[in-house]
Amino acid sequence: MFTVAFFVLLVSDVTVGLDVNTAAGESALLPCTLTTTAPIDLKDLRFYWQDERNRVLFSYNKGKEVPDHVDKLYRDRITAFPQEMTTGNISVKIKNPTLEDDRRVFQVVAAVFDSRGSRRYNPEHRQLCKHTLHVAVPYTNVSLALNEETMTAVCTTQGFPEPLVKWRLQYLSNNSQHVPDPRDVHTTAVQDNQDHQYRLKSAVDIPEGRYRSVTCLFHNPILNVTVSTTHVLNRGDPKRSLPLWPVGLMAILVLSAVQ
Ligand SMILES: *[C@@H]1O[C@H](CO)[C@@H](O)[C@H](O)[C@H]1NC(C)=O
Ligand SMILES: *[C@@H]1O[C@H](CO)[C@@H](O)[C@H](O)[C@H]1NC(C)=O
Ligand SMILES: *[C@@H]1O[C@H](CO)[C@@H](O)[C@H](O)[C@H]1NC(C)=O
Ligand SMILES: *[C@@H]1O[C@H](CO)[C@@H](O)[C@H](O)[C@H]1NC(C)=O
Repeated sequence: MFTVAFFVLLVSDVTVGLDVNTAAGESALLPCTLTTTAPIDLKDLRFYWQDERNRVLFSYNKGKEVPDHVDKLYRDRITAFPQEMTTGNISVKIKNPTLEDDRRVFQVVAAVFDSRGSRRYNPEHRQLCKHTLHVAVPYTNVSLALNEETMTAVCTTQGFPEPLVKWRLQYLSNNSQHVPDPRDVHTTAVQDNQDHQYRLKSAVDIPEGRYRSVTCLFHNPILNVTVSTTHVLNRGDPKRSLPLWPVGLMAILVLSAVQ
């Protein structure tokens, strides 16, 4: 009982704060502003950013960066803004986030000393600016193929996190769309051990003759971006359309008739 209660407390504590969403290889601001009435003399300022494993990203003491305290994971990846610090803005920017940084929780420990040497911020008892970083990899290699024998459409992609898949079928007879029953959609996602990306494959059976086109959509919940691809069905009914070789043959015949 006690263990369960403790665990729940820990999890809910971690979700407090800002969610910072970014894509791998870009950069993300970890915002933090100390509320201060007077400008801060940088000689009185001490703060550091750390992750949930207490690894230090950035350390600043009395007007100077302290690179020795920075964990090698974060070395050369953090930019601070000294010109902003006098106003209490101790935000830092993390460059080149990777999936190793996904769901890391960053927070600040800060102290501002006044002229008598006592602290205005009491860092040991406060967790400032506790943010969770979410790193995505945009979906690439989106492809949609149709098996005309089984009338199965298969859509594939890769990226991170696992995409939310949707299918849309465009009717032949009108401009509205049909959303396939989820029971008719078969999706498998496998996470690669090496690059941590998901390889996803989704398949849906398409009843013949009723639809003009089929679209699959992958939504990335971190980036709030949807990528889609559409396949135009062969006049909706492959049975009525001619197989490819007679079309080619006819083209040759027409061409030779013209000449
Ligand atoms: C803090 O500084 C950063 C970097 O210049 C800036 O992007 C951010 O908007 C600033 N935050 C505030 C609250 O001014
Ligand atoms: C896309 O797929 C091709 C072959 O299927 C592969 O060579 C390429 O690396 C893939 N692109 C990405 C970004 O993984
Ligand atoms: C569009 O056509 C399909 C079948 O042809 C039908 O089931 C559907 O209700 C139609 N939608 C509208 C909005 O008319
Ligand atoms: C996601 O994007 C849509 C528009 O593309 C927007 O309406 C929506 O508010 C966004 N959601 C979030 C959580 O940002």
